[in-house]
Amino acid sequence: MASVHSAVSVIAAKRDGGELGDDQIDWVVDAFTRGEVADEQMSALAMAILLRGMTRREIARWTRAMIESGKRMDFTDLPRSTVDKHSTGGVGDKITLPLAPLVAACGAAVPQLSGRGLGHTGGTLDKLESIPGWRADITVPRMREMLADPKIGAVVCAAGADLAPADKRLYALRDVTGTVESVPLIASSIMSKKIAEGTAALVLDVKVGGGAFMKDLDSARELATAMVELGTDAGVRTVALLTAMDTPLGRTAGNALEVAESVEVLSGGGPADVIELTVALAREMLAQAGIHDVDPAVALADGRAMDHWRAMIAGQGGDPDAPLPRAKYTETVTAEQSGTLTRLDAMAVGLAAWRLGAGRARQGDPVQFGAGIEMHAKPGDSITAGQPLLTLHTDTPDAFPPSLAALTAAYTIGPTPSHPTPTILDRIAP
Ligand code: URA
Repeated sequence: MASVHSAVSVIAAKRDGGELGDDQIDWVVDAFTRGEVADEQMSALAMAILLRGMTRREIARWTRAMIESGKRMDFTDLPRSTVDKHSTGGVGDKITLPLAPLVAACGAAVPQLSGRGLGHTGGTLDKLESIPGWRADITVPRMREMLADPKIGAVVCAAGADLAPADKRLYALRDVTGTVESVPLIASSIMSKKIAEGTAALVLDVKVGGGAFMKDLDSARELATAMVELGTDAGVRTVALLTAMDTPLGRTAGNALEVAESVEVLSGGGPADVIELTVALAREMLAQAGIHDVDPAVALADGRAMDHWRAMIAGQGGDPDAPLPRAKYTETVTAEQSGTLTRLDAMAVGLAAWRLGAGRARQGDPVQFGAGIEMHAKPGDSITAGQPLLTLHTDTPDAFPPSLAALTAAYTIGPTPSHPTPTILDRIAP
């Protein structure tokens, strides 16, 4: 029987500022997944949504339709409570690496389906793939085994093609049609995958600032609120932290460099901002999982999280003791004057790391595991003229000039002492 709907009527309804009905949303997402609604029609609808917005009901229905375009995983039979974390993406954001084993060491199960990086922020899978032998593509039975194993309890792997396939196709269109930056589309894209993943609880790390999608606190609050509402309505206990992304997290950006820094954090050292955010997110995750009697700061410092990291890496074929890949060439930027580092721009560092080969321009491109940037100083640090500020790493020395160009205006050294801005800016709960 012919459908009562047409792509043109749904696009026109949204273009004119109307609210789409449940049946229109179900139809258009399903017909797009089946190939009946063409890419150019879905692109036009995405632009209409970006310009006109969506109500809470429309976003919830759109998310549900995207979940139903594929399979939904179920971990309710596991002996431990499941909880996951999702970050909206930032430069040097390696938090998943110490966080997943830390939360597992404290008694929860962490099923994390992650992605590869595109653009200036790195992907968690690219970082872990720099560990010799580690594989992202494990089977669902193996994932369950790792989650149920009290010595492991965490798994970070690639999402299967059948998890919210409508989102995969739509995200690829948004990426090339200027329609990524829409709160309803970002919220439904992230939450459809997280709800389909089957986690019982979720903590969102919504990044705010120059190196993030959301440049100011108001728009980050709007996105966080939309996602917390979507999770809560779908029965997933969800809270969000809003965290600063004007400056990169930690002192490294780039795959193997970030793994090395994460191992430092798991060994009881590492940069203060990475430790602070890891422990804060762990506290939120454990509270969502109903675990109140374990202090994650202690489990990080006493080596329990490190034991789970080693087991988690080995459980996916990786060798936690193998030397990490190192880039063939390095170049160091030094300070031209003394003073205090008052600014180190996340977007510029992310772009420079990407140009060095740490990221990819198109899906499927290879990444250089050793490429990236080491930051020898962070905002608030005192600087002496001539001291190293940044070390650039790459296998392709042709990448130095464009990368150095991205860094020319990336930092400011001021005459007076300044204090670093806080890492955690706000918390959004249902
Ligand atoms: N990450 C996603 O998965 N989807 C978006 O729309 C943006 C970031």
